[in-house]
Amino acid sequence: MYSPKREHSPQLELAEVTRLKRDAKVRIECCDNIGFMRGLADESVQLVVTSPPYNIGKSYEKRTSLERYVEGQAQVIAECVRLLAPSGSICWQIGNHIGDDGEVFPLDIVLYPIFKQHGMKLRNRIVWHFEHGLHCTKRLSGRHETILWMTKSDDYIFDVDPIRVPAKYPQKKHFKGPRRGELSGNPMGKNPSDVWVIPNVKSNHVEKTAHPCQFPVELVERLVLSMTRPNDVVLDPYMGVGSTAVAAIMHGRTALGCDISSGYVEIAWDRVHSWRAGTLRTRPMNRPVYDPTLPLGGHGA
Ligand SMILES: C[S@@+](CC[C@H](N)C(=O)[O-])C[C@H]1O[C@@H](n2cnc3c(N)ncnc32)[C@H](O)[C@@H]1O
Repeated sequence: MYSPKREHSPQLELAEVTRLKRDAKVRIECCDNIGFMRGLADESVQLVVTSPPYNIGKSYEKRTSLERYVEGQAQVIAECVRLLAPSGSICWQIGNHIGDDGEVFPLDIVLYPIFKQHGMKLRNRIVWHFEHGLHCTKRLSGRHETILWMTKSDDYIFDVDPIRVPAKYPQKKHFKGPRRGELSGNPMGKNPSDVWVIPNVKSNHVEKTAHPCQFPVELVERLVLSMTRPNDVVLDPYMGVGSTAVAAIMHGRTALGCDISSGYVEIAWDRVHSWRAGTLRTRPMNRPVYDPTLPLGGHGA
């Protein structure tokens, strides 16, 4: 946790007070993530979910060499590992860095060795498939990104039940053996697999804010529900407009996060309060992707 000295210092400037927003379940701050994380205690976080800049020159990042980018990521990852509880998980949601000559560098492959240097173990490389984006002319259009799910130990929290999805053939039965005739699938649904089809947050998505690259709340909900327990601490060191914080409080977890943009932190804080007031619109987990060939897009009555 933050050192008491820092929290209660009489020297605390007004600007510092306003950039730090907190209550019993949420603590978010406008600052650089290394400074934010240095104030937190070892092994105090159950889950880190984040999507760092991809070094592609977005408004919130400064494009640099791939080597320098990786060095910066290594520092942030080292702090996340220090903060992680022994049963905890890090979910690093990432896409491609594109070189000046158009060469593609998949950042999960580039960053994976950093996690391995810390002894972390990969449990899944989750493929997030979305159906919209830029149309490329010199290569196939990119329609997926990945989440590296790494754990600190072999004794990690994972519960698939809260994130089961409807079975494809729920009436399927065992056709031989002692359980012949009984339903063969889990009545609660099936494991959602490591390929997640979830729309990205573009202009007509209900969660869209001023941020150019937010991830959908439902994507984080799956991670929070399966990898943490109520009241556990969930951290996002590149918090943007607080999608991770919203997913965490939706399910009774504690949210920590920071972003260098004060505008994004303000939006994040607003979203947290809108959620509590019951006015924040989020796309529900497991809603089928809109299919224009079906009545009502396949969303039912
Ligand atoms: C890909 S966006 C994350 C968006 C977020 N997942 C959401 O749903 O809103 C990356 C964010 O990292 C922030 N950022 C970049 N460098 C940072 C740093 N050193 N410390 C904290 N935040 C940083 C940017 O301002 C940007 O909002």
